[in-house]
Amino acid sequence: MTGEEAGRLIDHILTRYHAVHRAEMPDLIQLATAVEAAHPSHPQLPRGLTDLLRRMAWEMEAHMRKEEDGLFPELRAGEDRMAMAMTLMRDEHDDHAARLEQLAALTHQHRPPPGACATWQALCAGTAKFAEDLREHIRLENEVLFPGFGA
Ligand SMILES: [Fe+2]
Ligand SMILES: [Fe+2]
Repeated sequence: MTGEEAGRLIDHILTRYHAVHRAEMPDLIQLATAVEAAHPSHPQLPRGLTDLLRRMAWEMEAHMRKEEDGLFPELRAGEDRMAMAMTLMRDEHDDHAARLEQLAALTHQHRPPPGACATWQALCAGTAKFAEDLREHIRLENEVLFPGFGA
């Protein structure tokens, strides 16, 4: 993959995934906080979801900054000796995938209980969309961008 081709893919990743995660995560945290506060004794309450989302936001911010400040500028320049950095990013993607499993388990596969309030429904729709976005984001990096540089 040339630096120019990488640049186009990276631009897409930044606008469609990095920016979207950053925009949506605070809303998800707010929805989770509201649901946990409103239904403390509900048997299907995703207890601890707010903390999990806060943790994911923090971990993903650190990860995306490494890509934006460290790896991506090198790939845009066509630098083909970034194998170690891409290995590290893959490891972090595995960590994010494990968090997505926790998220799915906690939200009962992103399904609100019968008769759930609008906030709970919005929370589940939001976490489902976030999970789908993050999976596709990781797939594009692991299976398209990094292999373009032999990693
Ligand atoms: Fe990324
Ligand atoms: Fe990444």
